[in-house]
Amino acid sequence: MSDSLNQPIRLRRLRASAGIRAMLSETVVEPRHLIQPLFVTEGEQAEPIASLTGISRIPLAQLAAKCAELQLLGVHGVALFPKIDPKRKTAEGAEALNPNNLALRAIREVKTKCPGIVLFADIALDPYTTHGHDGILNEAGTDVDNDRTVAALVKMALFTAQAGADFVAPSDMMDGRVGAIRTALDASGHTGTGILAYSAKYASAFYGPFRDAVGSARKPGEAAISKASYQMNPANRREALREAALDAAEGADLLMVKPAGAYLDIIRDLRESTDRPLAAYQVSGEYAQLQAAAEKGWLDLRSARDESLLAIRRAGADVILTYFAEAYARDYARRT
Ligand code: PBG
Repeated sequence: MSDSLNQPIRLRRLRASAGIRAMLSETVVEPRHLIQPLFVTEGEQAEPIASLTGISRIPLAQLAAKCAELQLLGVHGVALFPKIDPKRKTAEGAEALNPNNLALRAIREVKTKCPGIVLFADIALDPYTTHGHDGILNEAGTDVDNDRTVAALVKMALFTAQAGADFVAPSDMMDGRVGAIRTALDASGHTGTGILAYSAKYASAFYGPFRDAVGSARKPGEAAISKASYQMNPANRREALREAALDAAEGADLLMVKPAGAYLDIIRDLRESTDRPLAAYQVSGEYAQLQAAAEKGWLDLRSARDESLLAIRRAGADVILTYFAEAYARDYARRT
């Protein structure tokens, strides 16, 4: 009697060699699927960010060269975030509307010296406000005032389009901001400027290192801020579909889910409910946890990184904002 099972269908035949596995692989992550978030500083030297291993704030003068390097590696997009001098911050974030602020200078610099890079510019007030919220507070100081904030974001988006950004990317989660921005852009002749809407952005604990990077983190002893009255409740799934449908109806060109790794079901839901291109943001805390485990020798960084990105693409994201973009593209160039 043989030990063989009577098993005509054996899926291991399809995994038997590297050649078969490569041939039948359903999902790919190429550098063109990635967008690199870049932090820009007023300083003259690169400033390493302790909680984001391998990532530094980049001086304005080095920004275009970094973009050109990314382009050569096949990464076509960057998302710019400024680290504003604390002395320039106010409760209302007026520096966001200074036509010569760091973010606008950075956009002009990049689009003059590296015009081919696809530039996504953040639209939100948190780098500019003393309290770190994404908008202007109400009189009582108890919550972010939606409509006053949208009015400021619209002005910010106009400056940003004027400076040459390819896409404005409202990351604030105010109601009605996509429609208001689209209307204002069109009325001022910026019909070619796109909108990447942070549609399903959750009030997540995974944004910590980003807040260090842009300097919006609370100091030790200060009360942590909650963005739960405008960012989404992590418990909610149907609500993400409503947010995405509204942003699409208001004219968003691309929709985004954020964070990515813990929200793969939301990425899949949106993929199946919209025909817009879909982005996902693998946020700072997702990056930091892989880096930290790898630094302890508990995970292999490259394979954990590659798997995390593959999962986000498999869930249905067309493009991924990730701090791994450059490193991934360098390894990709070496492999191919
Ligand atoms: C705020 C903003 C945040 C991120 C991007 N834009 C943080 C927040 O909502 O407090 C987080 C990105 C990351 O963690 O990598 N407008």
